[in-house]
Amino acid sequence: MAVAGVTDALLSDALGDIAAEVDAMFDALLPVPDDARARLVEAMRYAAIGGGKRIRPLLLTATARLYGVDRDAALRTGVAVEAIHVYSLIHDDLPCMDDDALRHGKATLHLAFDEATAVLAGDALHAFAFEVLADPAISADPFVRVELLRALGEASGLHGMAGGQMMDLVAESSQFDLHTITRLQQLKTGALLAASVEMGAILGHAPPEGRTHLRGYARDIGLAFQIADDLIDHEGDAALAGKAVGKDQAAGKQTFLTLLGPDRAREQARMLVEQAVALLADQGSEADLLRAIAHYIIERDH
Ligand code: IPE
Ligand code: IPE
Ligand code: MG
Ligand code: MG
Ligand code: MG
Repeated sequence: MAVAGVTDALLSDALGDIAAEVDAMFDALLPVPDDARARLVEAMRYAAIGGGKRIRPLLLTATARLYGVDRDAALRTGVAVEAIHVYSLIHDDLPCMDDDALRHGKATLHLAFDEATAVLAGDALHAFAFEVLADPAISADPFVRVELLRALGEASGLHGMAGGQMMDLVAESSQFDLHTITRLQQLKTGALLAASVEMGAILGHAPPEGRTHLRGYARDIGLAFQIADDLIDHEGDAALAGKAVGKDQAAGKQTFLTLLGPDRAREQARMLVEQAVALLADQGSEADLLRAIAHYIIERDH
């Protein structure tokens, strides 16, 4: 990484910690029942445990830490967001969508189990996310829980991920301009990343007017994140990425890369990260992890 050694250690420790904590919490919250639903929960666990960078829970806990939020509450909230992310990937990989065979370095869920089980595992993880957020273990304050539910609902549905996925499918057969591609990516990918930051601030009772810089930070890293995903698809290594590459071009999909080309897209992502970090200029060392995450987002290979 291009950031200083101390930041390197901060980030790699944080990535290691969050991966272990998210795995442990999914494990604890999803025990396999001793009845005919066992296959469903085994499928949920197959997709949710032991894979992924956990960037959304990391963003959430890093933001919550700015406000001194209890770690367990922040982690539960991060697991809720991650459950939506995992469900979105299960459905994204289905034959009727991207038809992918590899995810997180292993067989996609519909191949390891079957398509119907994969659809249901996605459905159940979707509902699980809201169940987790509604639990008083997150916060004794029902207003906080409702705010969290609203933020995740908005970022997941037609105003967020699902809406963006629809635009993404349409992008295979339409000519979108840069403005429309930006909107697509903000919904498909940016919304859940931004919600992660927002929900950390909600847990911290941060007043909306005091979170403008965090909103800007989240918007900028969200776009940079998707440019990095497109670059990995364009020139990455499937073994490192843990998923197939070259899919966007094969599908004739409009992305930042088709509009800007790889060099300008990379430059744009770097500018967005610099802009995101600049928005944290008034914060002290407590925001170092958020700064490191911003750099990591475009330097990653998976
Ligand atoms: C990949 O997201 C899909 C997009 C939303 C672009 P991540 O890069 O966060 O997926 P993980 O880390 O493999 O779960
Ligand atoms: C998927 O986007 C985004 C969501 C699941 C919301 P992609 O189709 O580009 O993600 P990858 O490249 O398969 O991870
Ligand atoms: Mg897709
Ligand atoms: Mg895909
Ligand atoms: Mg992709």
